[in-house]
Amino acid sequence: MTLAYACGKVILFGEHAVVYGRPAIAVPVTEVQAQAYIEPGPAGQGVVVVAPDLDRRVIVREAPPDEPLAHIVRGTLRAIGRGSDPDLTITITSTIPIARGLGSGTAVSTAIVRALARHLGHWFPSQAISDLVYQTEVLYHGTPSGIDNTVIAFEKPVYFVKGVTREIFWVGRPFRLAVADTGLASPTWEVVGDLRRRYQADPTRYEPLLDRVGEIALAARSAIVQGQEAELGRLMDENHALLQELGVSCPELDRLVAAARQGGALGAKLSGAGRGGHMIALVTEETQGRVDMLLRLAGAVRVLITEIR
Ligand code: PMV
Repeated sequence: MTLAYACGKVILFGEHAVVYGRPAIAVPVTEVQAQAYIEPGPAGQGVVVVAPDLDRRVIVREAPPDEPLAHIVRGTLRAIGRGSDPDLTITITSTIPIARGLGSGTAVSTAIVRALARHLGHWFPSQAISDLVYQTEVLYHGTPSGIDNTVIAFEKPVYFVKGVTREIFWVGRPFRLAVADTGLASPTWEVVGDLRRRYQADPTRYEPLLDRVGEIALAARSAIVQGQEAELGRLMDENHALLQELGVSCPELDRLVAAARQGGALGAKLSGAGRGGHMIALVTEETQGRVDMLLRLAGAVRVLITEIR
């Protein structure tokens, strides 16, 4: 029997602008996780992936090529050098909400890679896990930037410029985030597509906004490395205002952002695609209780506090 985990993630700075080549920062959220549990299966069954929460059962050898769970299993077995189809049952469970920008699909793939490798006596460096998971990300998102698989495989903050750099960096002083769920599912491709159409109709309106988001991400990396919390909060507020101007926020997110600030958060912004999903607020041990309460009163269906270190 083998058990492996993978954490969730949030985008801290630079969502949407990252699609247009500007830098972004994502951090791991270890308070939620996906889990893959492997046990031997009956002889001749091959690999079967079971997701009881989703009522899913995938027989890998019979699944179509683009079935994500089968895809990550096949890719991993190939990378390990196992041509055969071992008789294994992989059970997937997860506490990461689906389609809310916390990286649930990526975490499931990562947990499967880790569990399979460990079960079969193989070791992958984090970069190899990230690369394997990216191949399956393409099935979910078409042209993913690669930020999710990197941050989840390394479980470290990552500074990312699509196709140019992905740097793991260290936190000068740990900081806390309240992560609040609007309860609204928001398909990333829809929001990205909508902004793309508006951008194409009027690039000169959007370019300066995207430039400024990029500058903020760069400044935020310095603030994180140097442990400058107040500056980090200020940058989050400014990034949220720019996301509003980009047209990807919504009343529910704006309400939660305002509530967090009212509760004493040093800064707050939407996180991920927007128009639903999650928002994040920079809190301290002293403010987290009040911020949590005000977020719930303002409509958050769930709030978790995570420490980034
Ligand atoms: O839905 P999420 O949290 O994975 O965020 C999407 C982030 C975008 O920048 C909007 C899209 C992307 O591919 O980076």
